[in-house]
Amino acid sequence: MHVFVTGGTGLIGPAVVAELLGNGHTVLALARSDGSALAIETAGAHPLRGDLADLDSLRAGAAQADGVIHLAFRHDFSSPDALAQAVAEESAALAVLGDELLGSDRPLVTVSGTPPVAGRVSTETDPVPTEGPVGGRSRSVMAVLDLASRGVRSTAVRLPRTVHNEGKGGFAGTLTDVARRTGVSGYPGDGTQRWPAVHALDAAALFRLALETAPAGSCWHAVADEGDAVRDIAVVIGRRLELPVQAVSPETYGPLGPIFATDQPSSSAHTREALGWNPTHESLLKDLENIQP
Ligand SMILES: NC(=O)c1ccc[n+]([C@@H]2O[C@H](COP(=O)([O-])OP(=O)(O)OC[C@H]3O[C@@H](n4cnc5c(N)ncnc54)[C@H](OP(=O)(O)O)[C@@H]3O)[C@@H](O)[C@H]2O)c1
Repeated sequence: MHVFVTGGTGLIGPAVVAELLGNGHTVLALARSDGSALAIETAGAHPLRGDLADLDSLRAGAAQADGVIHLAFRHDFSSPDALAQAVAEESAALAVLGDELLGSDRPLVTVSGTPPVAGRVSTETDPVPTEGPVGGRSRSVMAVLDLASRGVRSTAVRLPRTVHNEGKGGFAGTLTDVARRTGVSGYPGDGTQRWPAVHALDAAALFRLALETAPAGSCWHAVADEGDAVRDIAVVIGRRLELPVQAVSPETYGPLGPIFATDQPSSSAHTREALGWNPTHESLLKDLENIQP
C-alpha cells in the first residue's frame, strides 16, 4: 500500500514508518519543517509539506494514498487552553482525513489511548472517556470509528500511557523530564497506581497489522506491560539520575495531573489473539535503564 502518515517524525512515527517500509509498503509522510522533511527522506519515505492546521495538505495526502495512519498531535500541555486548542486542531484534521476516504473502503488508522476502568484491567471493548482534559480526543476517535458505516475501514490503535524507546517517551518520559528539572524523582499520589506501557517498535507492528487487516470500526490495545506501579517507575528514574524518590502533588504534571494519578492497567489479550500481535521488545522498566544522568 502507499500509506499517508501524520506524525512520522515523533517518538512513535519513525518506528511506524520503518515498519511499513520493511513490510513492502511505501510512505508519504506529513512534514511541517525542513528538518522533519529531511528526517522523512532519510528514513526512505516521501515528505509532504504541510501541517495539521493546513487542511488542504491533509486532503492532498489522503487523496493519493491507499490508506492513512494518523499519529500527529501538538503536545502543548502548558495550559488548559493550549491543550484544548491542540485537541480542536486534531479533531478538524481527522474530520478532513475521514472525509477524503469516504466510500473508498480504504483504511484510516487513528491513534487513541487505553481507557481507565475503576477496579479492573481495561479491555478493547471498554469505552474511552469523553470527558476530562483530553476527552475531546476520544470524541474525535469515535467520529472516525463511526465512518465505518460510510465506506471507511476506520480503526483505532489505543496506546498505553507510556510508549517508550531508548528510555524515553510517554508519561514515564514526563516523569523523567520533571525529575531532571526539579531534582526529585516524583510520583503523583501514593505511587501504587499502575500505568500500562509498550515499546515503540512493538506499537509500530500493531499499527501495520491494523492498517493491513483490521475490520472497520474496530479498536485495538497496543499494551505489552499491563501495568507498572508508578512508584516503581520513579524508583528506576531516581536511581538512573541519582535523585531522591518521593511523592509529589499531581498538579506537578499540569492539566494531565488527574490522569497521572489514576490507576489504569490495561490488557491486550483480544488484540494479540485476533490480530496475531506479539510484542517482543524490552519492557518499560528495563528500557528505563537506558536513561543517562
Ligand atoms: N508516546 C506515548 O507514550 C503516547 C502514549 C499515548 C498516546 N500517544 C499519542 O501517539 C501519537 C504520537 O506520539 P509521539 O510520542 O510520537 O509524539 P511526539 O514525539 O510528540 O511527536 C509528535 C508528532 O506529531 C507531529 N506534529 C505535531 N504537531 C504537528 C502539527 N501541527 N502539524 C503536523 N505535525 C505535527 C510532530 O512533527 P515534528 O517532528 O515536525 O514536530 C511529530 O511527528 C500522539 O497522538 C500521542 O498523543 C503517545
